[in-house]
Amino acid sequence: MGKDVIVACDFASREATLNFLDQFTGRKPFVKIGMELFYAEGPSIVREIKARGHKIFLDLKLHDIPNTVKKAMSVLSNLDVDLCNLHAGGTVRMMEAALEGLTREDGTRPLLIAVTQLTSTDQESMENDLLIHEPIDKVVMHYAANAKKAGLDGVVCSPLEAGKVHDICGKEFLTVTPGVRFADGDVGDQKRVMTPAEAKKIGSDYIVVGRPITAAEDPVAAYERCIAEFCD
Ligand code: C5P
Repeated sequence: MGKDVIVACDFASREATLNFLDQFTGRKPFVKIGMELFYAEGPSIVREIKARGHKIFLDLKLHDIPNTVKKAMSVLSNLDVDLCNLHAGGTVRMMEAALEGLTREDGTRPLLIAVTQLTSTDQESMENDLLIHEPIDKVVMHYAANAKKAGLDGVVCSPLEAGKVHDICGKEFLTVTPGVRFADGDVGDQKRVMTPAEAKKIGSDYIVVGRPITAAEDPVAAYERCIAEFCD
């Protein structure tokens, strides 16, 4: 898959999501379904959006014992999602088990990426709550290297980390980056942001964009602007 813009459909219901997606009569965006929508509507929302011709990133961030993650990933694989994720903190063995579960009988599977440290975790909370005393940048890169070692396809990271992840894990290792804002747009609650054009320059493979598109007056125009800045 080449560079693409993934639209974070952070809606609470099927109705709100489909009303939003109905506006896209031309190019069908790659859609991110997160916990809120998935837990509200269940697997049928994934099948329904997929049937409308969208690629799907199912953002459920699995983290459990290897056997449980393997079995859960096998279920997600049957849903025919294109991209899914887990927490690298679950260890290399958990990530390897996830890949096993995801791989179908014919050898195909959805792409699998890892969350390293959540961007909501800072140095202080990592040290005090998790008792991890290394610098957070080093932890993030180590977890990315673990994901690569386990055979995963990439990581979710800030656009600011994408270049370094590629340096450590190789150009082919995917970087999927949220925290994207237009130069003239609202930053909202995101702390470290980049424009789609900057994310392209720095080498992100996919950008995840939510409110700059979902809350725009003209979501289709905002999406096309992201595509123009990031992909073209
Ligand atoms: O609306 P906004 O563009 O901020 O949405 C970004 C999306 O990416 C949200 O679904 C958010 O949960 C997700 N995300 C993030 N930062 C991370 C990981 C995921 O913003 N580190």
